[in-house]
Amino acid sequence: MTAAIYFSPTWTSKKGAEAIAAELAGGGEVVSLDVTRFDARPEVTEFSPEDLVVFGAPVYGGRLYRGSKERFRAFHGNKTPCVITVTYGNRHYDDALLELFDLAKELGFRLVAAAALIGQHTYGQIQVGRPDEADLAEDRSFAAQVKENLAAGRFLDTVPGNRPYVKGDEGGGGGHFHPLTAGECSRCGLCAAECPEGAIAPDCVTIDPAKCIACFRCIRICPEQAKNMNVPAYLEFAEGFTQKLAQPRKNEYFL
Ligand SMILES: Cc1cc2nc3c(=O)[nH]c(=O)nc-3n(C[C@H](O)[C@H](O)[C@H](O)COP(=O)(O)O)c2cc1C
Ligand code: SF4
Ligand code: SF4
Repeated sequence: MTAAIYFSPTWTSKKGAEAIAAELAGGGEVVSLDVTRFDARPEVTEFSPEDLVVFGAPVYGGRLYRGSKERFRAFHGNKTPCVITVTYGNRHYDDALLELFDLAKELGFRLVAAAALIGQHTYGQIQVGRPDEADLAEDRSFAAQVKENLAAGRFLDTVPGNRPYVKGDEGGGGGHFHPLTAGECSRCGLCAAECPEGAIAPDCVTIDPAKCIACFRCIRICPEQAKNMNVPAYLEFAEGFTQKLAQPRKNEYFL
């Protein structure tokens, strides 16, 4: 079995992980195990040495978001070859890739390759539309090389990052922008069902700030464009941040 396991509130990590898994599967089936929703119950959690797994997660504060680490702990490999990917919004991935490397090893996987990929940043207008077709083509070429390494029995020793991790052992937290709801809201319930932390009350408007991680999935998924962050403090921050991170970085692959 070839599986893509991902936590991906705004779907950029999902795209990279699935593109790589599809190429590795060579036209065969890819089992997608999406653990983004708070009620996710993946149908497969145990893997054999014959399986192949691709992990995907976003970088939050230079780290793996701690909720994604908790979710990934449900999976267990048995010397199962795996590829790890982190997707970040054009600032940096800091210790996140190393953290996923260590976690995958701890869970019984054998690391074949790794990638730090660019995705549109959650905030502002940074690398809008990425990963785009060119990024996904790069991912597929990388996967072709991964296949060669797998066939030759070559594994990965390490990836960039600091040990101990610069910001402690717990993983990254969320952000502090909690979305608002405009009058266009039809109370369809989609945002509440899809919120990774179950932070949106059944009224579809009230957001628990203690649970909300500012992932902006609710803003992206709302069919009425009712969920928003149209407040001066955020808009001002977003404009400055967009300018600061305008220079595009490249996808990095480790084999
Ligand atoms: C709370 C939070 C923290 C983030 N921290 C970083 C960061 O440290 N470096 C970076 O380049 N991007 C950062 N980002 C941007 C995301 O890593 C980026 O948008 C990623 O593509 C989102 O993945 P997803 O679409 O799979 O949810 C952060 C986003 C959020 C919401
Ligand atoms: S997804 Fe949008 S329209 Fe639907 S309940 Fe949420 S805010 Fe309202
Ligand atoms: S309420 Fe917060 S945690 Fe939930 S989807 Fe919206 S931004 Fe993400």
